[in-house]
Amino acid sequence: MADKILVLGSSGQIGTDLVESLREAYGNDNVVASDLREPSAERLAQGPFEQLNAMDAEAVFEVIKKHGITQVYHLVAMLSATAEKMPMKGWDLNMTSLFNFMELIKEGHISKMYWPSSIAAFGPNTPVNDTPQYTVMDPGTVYGISKLSGELWCDYYNKKYGCDIRGLRYPGLISYKTEPGGGTTDYAVDIFHKAVKGEDYHCFLSEDRRLPMMYMPDAIKATIGIMEAPAEQVKIRTSYNVASFSFTPRELNALIQKEVPGFKTLYDAVDERDAIAAGWPQSINDSEARAHWGWKPDFSLEAMVKDMLKNLK
Ligand code: SER
Repeated sequence: MADKILVLGSSGQIGTDLVESLREAYGNDNVVASDLREPSAERLAQGPFEQLNAMDAEAVFEVIKKHGITQVYHLVAMLSATAEKMPMKGWDLNMTSLFNFMELIKEGHISKMYWPSSIAAFGPNTPVNDTPQYTVMDPGTVYGISKLSGELWCDYYNKKYGCDIRGLRYPGLISYKTEPGGGTTDYAVDIFHKAVKGEDYHCFLSEDRRLPMMYMPDAIKATIGIMEAPAEQVKIRTSYNVASFSFTPRELNALIQKEVPGFKTLYDAVDERDAIAAGWPQSINDSEARAHWGWKPDFSLEAMVKDMLKNLK
């Protein structure tokens, strides 16, 4: 039987790119997009869509049955900065939506699920450079606590009930098709939008705040890569470290300036997101992902900058 895939959060930053790639690989009709929001008419015409609240267990089950879904990519979450403003809502959304699907996989209604974690699962006492897979994890944000808890629950459902759940700890993700919302790493997308408009960028992180980041094509490659890997290669069932490059706002600004002469970043808008970023790693060691299922990124930092500017123009 052909795989039938459901992507939750299909209108979000990752979902937009992921649905496109999955439809290329599996065929438009085999990939059901779903989101709380209605998509554009153009996106609706590209393939099946369900308007769905991932918190509503009954509605979720109806959609799974209606389409004969076998695989789920669960991309619904409230990101770090927003969840700090509404902690209980963030916790509830991030955990309830996960449990709704873990229960369906436990009961045998779906066979495989992807659920993303994040560098936010690490904390201020984690070694900041070349952060290993196994280390101190003491997240200091609601989002990070929900990601670490979710990782542990995914591992539990795998060990206890044999559920095939797979995950990655994404770094900050940079893309041009859809803007992120409510994250601490969003500056690395916002800055490009200002640069192509010929405006200065007022950065909300301090100029030497180094963070691990990844270009969206590589994030999609990693996501589909871990989902298509033979189950025995996916030895870690919490979530895998994956890495690409790291930079500071100052370094990113300099690279953009090379392509957009006259572009300037000002550090007069630094806010509470800088403290969130200060509790996260600066670079990630992803040797387990490379060794176990062959992960390797394609884009260098310089290539990402050129590609972002070309596509946004
Ligand atoms: N990009 C996310 C955020 O900034 C981290 O995973 O919240």
